[in-house]
Amino acid sequence: MTTIAVIGAGQMGTGIAQTVAQHGMKVLLADLDLAHAEAGKAKVDKALAKLVGRGKIEADTVEAVLGRIEPVADYTPMSEASFIIEAATEREEVKAKIFEKASEVLAEDAIMASNTSSIPITRMANHSPDPKRFIGLHFFNPVPVMGLIEVIPGLATAQDTTDRTTAFAESLGKQVVLSQDEPGFVVNRILLPMINEAIFVLGQSTASIADIDKGCRLGLNHPMGPLELADFVGLDTCFEIIKVLFETTGDSKYRPAPLLVKYVEAGWLGRKAGRGFYDYGGEEPVPTR
Ligand code: 3HC
Repeated sequence: MTTIAVIGAGQMGTGIAQTVAQHGMKVLLADLDLAHAEAGKAKVDKALAKLVGRGKIEADTVEAVLGRIEPVADYTPMSEASFIIEAATEREEVKAKIFEKASEVLAEDAIMASNTSSIPITRMANHSPDPKRFIGLHFFNPVPVMGLIEVIPGLATAQDTTDRTTAFAESLGKQVVLSQDEPGFVVNRILLPMINEAIFVLGQSTASIADIDKGCRLGLNHPMGPLELADFVGLDTCFEIIKVLFETTGDSKYRPAPLLVKYVEAGWLGRKAGRGFYDYGGEEPVPTR
């Protein structure tokens, strides 16, 4: 059975682990320690239980999928993995430490991939033992549901690595968009300026949170408005991505909206924090402005 290692058991890492395990592969799931990795597996259990409740999958399937996810205390067992996928916090220093530690166990022909939303792949490849086998593999949230994966080769990535990574992404039932290693790749380069602009619109009191989201849901046929989506992605992640776009291009059109900065400073990071542009304390999210 193919083994895939996933480092980071947060929103994205657990979604990746679930998707990989649902496609018959074994997952080694790591985080800061075993307790965090186990909590990640428990999140997958909860997501699968919901699917059973809705009659989408059988209870036996849950057991089989969970049986393929092994939380691990350290990276040692990852020497058997054909891919090591990093899905940690969107901060370069955090990711760099992970790559350096994972380099000690990366098998000779294995690929090291980052689920970064925007940090340059070519630069991060320097923290791997072999930049030819380093690549961007960008999933979308919620991973089990979204049909796209962006594959981003860095300057030094070998064609064979890109081909194997594309084949792996397609084996998860996803479609692939190939992007060059440019800031924000394809989708976030387009999405984040939209989210940031929505926050400028809110900051200028042009409309309420509910109306900005309603406008985009009904006027553009988006499943979520930009502020709901920002809360869903996490305002800290949105801030990190728009900052990368701003800093790497030097173009003022990407400057973070002041209200986004304030929300991040207040710790109002969206759904995961219980509060962002909406309050998630009750049954239904309530707009806060
Ligand atoms: N595993 C498998 N299936 C799941 C699932 C899970 N963990 N969670 C939900 N689903 C399935 C449900 O069973 C349902 O299936 P069905 O359509 O066959 O009945 C379907 O997904 C929709 O789920 P819900 O009914 O619970 O919810 P909604 O219909 O309200 O849709 C949503 C929720 C899919 C999140 C939708 O609102 C949406 O598409 N929002 C936009 C998401 C988006 O834009 N994501 C990209 C963010 S950007 C990003 O990730 C990049 C990063 O770098 C920032």
